[in-house]
Amino acid sequence: MKAIMQDRYGSPEALEFRDVSTPVPGDDEVLVRVHAAAVNALDWHVMRGDPYLARPMMGLRRPRAKIRGRDFAGRVESVGRNVKRFKAGDEVFGEADGAFAEYVAAPESVVEHKPARLTFEQAAAIPVAGNTALMGLRDLGQVQPGHRVLINGASGGVGTFAVQIAKAFGADVTGVCSTKNVEQTRSLGADRVIDYTRDDFTSGAARYDVIFDLVGNHSLTELRRVLAPGGKVVLSGGGIYRGGSVVGPMALMVTGMVLARFARWVDVLQVVPRADNLTTLGELAEAGKLTPVIDRTYPLSEAATAIHYLETEHARAKVVLTV
Ligand SMILES: NC(=O)c1ccc[n+]([C@@H]2O[C@H](COP(=O)([O-])OP(=O)(O)OC[C@H]3O[C@@H](n4cnc5c(N)ncnc54)[C@H](OP(=O)(O)O)[C@@H]3O)[C@@H](O)[C@H]2O)c1
Repeated sequence: MKAIMQDRYGSPEALEFRDVSTPVPGDDEVLVRVHAAAVNALDWHVMRGDPYLARPMMGLRRPRAKIRGRDFAGRVESVGRNVKRFKAGDEVFGEADGAFAEYVAAPESVVEHKPARLTFEQAAAIPVAGNTALMGLRDLGQVQPGHRVLINGASGGVGTFAVQIAKAFGADVTGVCSTKNVEQTRSLGADRVIDYTRDDFTSGAARYDVIFDLVGNHSLTELRRVLAPGGKVVLSGGGIYRGGSVVGPMALMVTGMVLARFARWVDVLQVVPRADNLTTLGELAEAGKLTPVIDRTYPLSEAATAIHYLETEHARAKVVLTV
């Protein structure tokens, strides 16, 4: 099969579109013929081995996972003997290493049936970004109806899901993005949109019950200033603003983690793939409360260009590969 392979860390040129053996599913795995795969910030972090501090997890000298990509949607080709929920021909979506390929073998536990309402491209856009938004708002932010929720980075891959999920939870949502994305953020359901090129939300008069930070361009002191009593800051990442290629977003995240041991007003999101969250996201999509927004699509062979576009950190929503 064809796949996007990587033998060394580096720029998009380190990625090669080449032939590799088709994976054989293990007893608990599903082999999926991939029709679409989505690009995430994770893909460019692993491609570059950036930040260095994360290399013990990604692979010290070269990426541990040779085939890039995590998000996929496609049709089940075959299943391992312990797999109960899927059979050949089922339309599915999920999250596993090696998604930028014609076939991916994924544990049954991180695969779900594709919502019938969505295309393969839309379904592939969900797993990592949708799960991040869901876990950030539901599990850490504990968003309730009527909560004032601010999403910093509302127009990105995670942000476009977060705006819709916060609205589905009954929150009053403020999205922060640049001028060109104001209309998109409003059309996703945000009650208010702050254009960060004109206004700085951390010096405004409004207070928020939950601040979901996907950018990392403000200090914790600045964020706390606009937190309502009993409110919470949920940190999720942000790449280019702090720390450079040595610590990257981990500078703010580690500070947040240390503080979270003593303070209830801050928490740091560490997302893990979960099929039950895919089920929840699929149900929201079927109910029409969640529609993935796709900025650009590229053929699989142009994955390097797609990843390079995403690493500018100004993509509008999701970037998807068609396979
Ligand atoms: N903690 C975890 O487990 C976890 C999981 C997944 C993702 N993440 C992290 O979450 C972050 C967001 O991911 P993503 O997929 O949404 O990234 P993304 O798609 O690259 O987000 C780009 C968006 O950020 C916006 N942005 C850039 N500068 C901004 C600023 N100063 N203020 C407000 N918005 C700004 C851009 O909007 P404009 O073009 O309008 O500026 C763009 O729409 C990443 O850093 C990622 O690494 C963490």
